[in-house]
Amino acid sequence: MQLDVTSLPGDGIGPEVTSQAIRVLDGVAARFGHELSIDEKEIGGAALKQFGNPLPDSTLQACLRSKAVLLGAVGSPEFDRNSRNLRPETGLLRLRRELGAFANLRPAVLYESLANRSPLREEVVRGTDILIVRELLGGLYFGEPRSINESTGATVATNTMTYTEPEIERIARIGFQLARTRRRQLLSVDKANVLECSRLWREVVTRVGQHFPEVQLAHMYVDSAAMLLVLKPSSFDVILTENMFGDILSDQAGGVVGSLGLLASASVGGLVGLYEPVHGSAPDIAGQGVANPLGAILSVAMMLRHTFGLHKEAECVEAGVVAALKAGFRTRDLAGASERTVSTDEMGNQILQFVSDGAARD
Ligand code: IPM
Ligand code: MN
Repeated sequence: MQLDVTSLPGDGIGPEVTSQAIRVLDGVAARFGHELSIDEKEIGGAALKQFGNPLPDSTLQACLRSKAVLLGAVGSPEFDRNSRNLRPETGLLRLRRELGAFANLRPAVLYESLANRSPLREEVVRGTDILIVRELLGGLYFGEPRSINESTGATVATNTMTYTEPEIERIARIGFQLARTRRRQLLSVDKANVLECSRLWREVVTRVGQHFPEVQLAHMYVDSAAMLLVLKPSSFDVILTENMFGDILSDQAGGVVGSLGLLASASVGGLVGLYEPVHGSAPDIAGQGVANPLGAILSVAMMLRHTFGLHKEAECVEAGVVAALKAGFRTRDLAGASERTVSTDEMGNQILQFVSDGAARD
């Protein structure tokens, strides 16, 4: 198969982790006889510096021409004072919108060999296997009007949370479909005791749920869900939620399973799939070779599965990650006080070796 991928390394640790993920993708392609073609482009702060635009047209066109996009991270403190249109994050949000990627899938799985790395007790965190389905194109992130108005006395800032019925319906359908392939439990998370958007959310999700009688649907307020996520993380299967709640809960889920550096994501439902680790640009550790590339590498696995339908290949990458962790390889974020740590490259090498060394397992 021809694998046409646009790579957008972006800012901070983005370039370090995407280069490892691309090496692994290259290794899998070679092993399974696929033709990989990578088109590398700029986004975020890197694009602002070069083009004065966080999503240059050349980048967007390349993404639209390819079959899948791998993104590292965007964001850098040097642009903190920029106006919204000239911020790195605006490039990513525009890309999500232009691609129509409304469904953001964020798995958070506890790896058995990392059970002692969670800040939670092992018996609490064992068995955790959550899929967060985050609505990605609505809510506060995109609602209008939005402004910051400094002209009259006290400055006033405004954001708007809006959801339409079709927006909720399409993400709910994805959530139920995915729940059907798992343990068939869907928890819809909202704040229906306070927000109109959430009241509509609950109503529409309940209606869509009638078409999926085999899936058990429950509703929970986001504050309770946040508490339950640390009290009993293993009780969740699929969490379906709106954009901002999903952003927050997915970082929390990263902490629960031991490191945000492990989390991958797929943004699907649009023209081209967008795959990105959940962690950000981490400017504090950028360029030191200590970042965890597993979130990016696991995002490649999600790409193989969701865009290319290459399930064996995806499983091979995932098995490589499990094997490396089991063998004791730890980047700094995963290591206990007395444990040896490996660099970003060394972790990438491990997975690459595993996926390339087919002889033993074919
Ligand atoms: C994420 C990030 C982004 C988001 C930022 C960088 C715009 O935090 O993918 O979770 O808030 O969606
Ligand atoms: Mn986030």
